[in-house]
Amino acid sequence: MTLDAKIQPACENIDDITFDDIDDIINPRPDENDFDQVVENALSRRGFMSGVLVLGGAAMLGASSALTPSIANAATLFDFEQVLANSLDTITVPKGYTWDVVAKWGDPLFSDVPEFDEATRGTPETQARAVGDNNDGMDLFEKDGKSVYVVNNEYVNRKIIWGNNPDGKPASDADILKGKLAHGVTVMEVAETDGKWMIVKGSPFNRRITPDTEMDITGPAAAHDLMKTLADPTGTKTLGTWNNCGNGRTPWGTYLACEENFNGYFSGPSDDYEVTSELKRYGVSGRDWGYSWAKIDDRFDVSKNPNEPNRAGYVVEIDPFDASSTPQKRTALGRFKHENAEVVVAKNGKIVVYMGDDERGEFLYKFVSDGTYVEGGDTSKLLTDGTLYVAKFEADQKGQWISLTKETVGMEAAEIAIHTRQAASKAGATTMDRPEWVAAHPTKAEVYCALTNNKNRGKKPNAGGDATPAAGPNPRAKNNYGQIVRWRPEDDDHTATSFEWDLFVLAGNPKVHSDAYAGSENINEGNMFNSPDGLSFDDKGILWIQTDGKYTNEGDFAGQGNNQMLAGDPATGEIRRFLVGPNECEVTGMTFSGDRKTMFVGIQHPGEKGNSHFPDGGKSLPRSCIIAIKREDGAVIG
Ligand code: FEO
Ligand code: CA
Ligand code: CA
Repeated sequence: MTLDAKIQPACENIDDITFDDIDDIINPRPDENDFDQVVENALSRRGFMSGVLVLGGAAMLGASSALTPSIANAATLFDFEQVLANSLDTITVPKGYTWDVVAKWGDPLFSDVPEFDEATRGTPETQARAVGDNNDGMDLFEKDGKSVYVVNNEYVNRKIIWGNNPDGKPASDADILKGKLAHGVTVMEVAETDGKWMIVKGSPFNRRITPDTEMDITGPAAAHDLMKTLADPTGTKTLGTWNNCGNGRTPWGTYLACEENFNGYFSGPSDDYEVTSELKRYGVSGRDWGYSWAKIDDRFDVSKNPNEPNRAGYVVEIDPFDASSTPQKRTALGRFKHENAEVVVAKNGKIVVYMGDDERGEFLYKFVSDGTYVEGGDTSKLLTDGTLYVAKFEADQKGQWISLTKETVGMEAAEIAIHTRQAASKAGATTMDRPEWVAAHPTKAEVYCALTNNKNRGKKPNAGGDATPAAGPNPRAKNNYGQIVRWRPEDDDHTATSFEWDLFVLAGNPKVHSDAYAGSENINEGNMFNSPDGLSFDDKGILWIQTDGKYTNEGDFAGQGNNQMLAGDPATGEIRRFLVGPNECEVTGMTFSGDRKTMFVGIQHPGEKGNSHFPDGGKSLPRSCIIAIKREDGAVIG
């Protein structure tokens, strides 16, 4: 059966399937009935889950080590009124707040580029010099009175970018190239005039980084045979970055773009073309996900360039203030479906980067630099020389970071950097419910990770065959709702190998369930949501939670409305809804202006199934965009 035949009965269009579902269809995982007993055990503790877990397992940790005090009588951290869940094709923010669009897909970065044309949806030439599509992770950098905004452009929705063609598919090489150039990263100066943030067209900082931009390969994988291709026999120079999901920011003022579902862009001479088991672990196959890049660029044909996929799946470091700088691929941070890269300076001065691998049953990682960070000192080796660790959670709310080294997994440093998933499997790491963003508390050594959902939990192994029992921080089989796990490193030292963990929240639906799927006790019918994804702390210590989940508002998701953004209080466990997005969008990416009076939030793929006209309304084409949120009284947000 061809892959099309496998996919079509399940779904009319590949665009209607999630990335993980495509991976599962192309590479079916066997059912694992052996897990059933473990699932039973987990569910038999449901009273414990929904009754005692309370605010993320405070009781499980015991009073003396509890991360969470009681919510009762606690003062709230929030100064806004919760907004109601809804299915409106607009943004809903609390009373006293306003919102405005800053930049949309296709907005020109230079004055000689025409405004976005809905009829054609642009050309390769305009797209190469305009804001990319599907904005995701973002950050704002301020220096010498200039504000430079950097934002990832994760992917394109075929039905939208090629929706002007009758079948919603690329009709020409130019269409394919336009789609390709809508990926990558947008760097743009922004300025606030009369309270409105706008792109500064023609600024010398403005730049598009695309799948064709030259980059250096650094770290352990550089120059290894697995990195060499026909076009780059040195294995040290590569072109481009794509499917950039979440992001990171270093203390020395650079931006980190994280390559997530990089596999979906490669294809072979036929859908059934057999790739190596190493590539299969990463979901590379003979069939791409509809982007068609191999038709215009041999790099993406795995039969001609079998090593090209080894050059993607990394974290890329970008200097926002130098538009001529060469982005650096940091292979020391491992190769996997990177979500974001949360950078902290440990108390001994080492740089620690926490990272999730977003696929069902994959792992949570951290990188620890060899060198230490000194303000104004040499930072060039801090993300090239160091050790990668993977998390192993134990059932007693303890956990260990296992180093990935030749001694622990029997692989050379370059192989660990390239085949990181295989190394982590050998280390016996804990299979997780799709680790999304990681966020570190601004003043405490406490780190949070969104585990968005995992319908295979307790049912199927991960792509490497590792079992996924319902246990520990992934306690629910067929987990449709997701949870947020957090950990505290031993001695408040981010470089420590031991930690203590608990669950900050189990998302769920108390309207339709009364067991563990109702969620933890800080979830109620007023604040419920599914599929936490984006996570960021503000300076005040509010944990901002963004969702990328089911927006049917029916069945298991009844009453949850559109994707949204909520605020969490780490101290009390309180969760309050702050924003609801428009139809069929994902809310992802956030940052603040330097004065903290503007909060920027990303609205990705409104109308991904054809039912939105956000943000311009009327009969306009829906467009991913960045919005600016302010308080009407002009005060600081958060
Ligand atoms: Fe691009 Fe895991 O979200
Ligand atoms: Ca995400
Ligand atoms: Ca997502």
